[in-house]
Amino acid sequence: MATYERKDRFYRKAKEQGLPSRASFKIEEMIQKHRLVKAGDRVLDLGAAPGGWTVILAKAIGPKGLVLAIDLAPLAKSAPNVRFRQDDIHGEATALWLEEELAGKKVHAVCSDMSPKLTGIAFKDAYLSDELAVKALEIARHWLQAVL
Ligand SMILES: C[S@@+](CC[C@H](N)C(=O)[O-])C[C@H]1O[C@@H](n2cnc3c(N)ncnc32)[C@H](O)[C@@H]1O
Repeated sequence: MATYERKDRFYRKAKEQGLPSRASFKIEEMIQKHRLVKAGDRVLDLGAAPGGWTVILAKAIGPKGLVLAIDLAPLAKSAPNVRFRQDDIHGEATALWLEEELAGKKVHAVCSDMSPKLTGIAFKDAYLSDELAVKALEIARHWLQAVL
């Protein structure tokens, strides 16, 4: 069986650039390719830890924008235009926090990189992943300014 090379070139590149994870390059590409966000946007970052997407989103939206980031785990890196809640996406307290932070405003983008703790049991992992994707969709339907 092939072994998973965790310290691949993106891992090393992220380390060299002081980024929290190699996932930063994924979101950077999506922002460029799909013009995901622009200066001044409000963005939800679901499954944000350790912060690879968060720091890139924060940079892309600039000082007038706002990233609301959520994760069970803490962020390793943040930015002044980021507000973070360490909590479960399914929790009522998380929903209340979002309502308080947004105070009636909608967001321009919802980004989710949430992934469950994998068990190796395929049907269980698929179920857990699906549950997170459905939650992200529910949040997007509720909070997005424009749903295509
Ligand atoms: C692939 S990692 C995210 C990487 C991150 N986007 C980055 O760029 O550094 C997936 C994350 O989903 C989070 N997660 C899984 N289930 C969650 C839940 N129920 N509520 C909030 N976050 C969750 C995990 O804690 C984990 O940090």
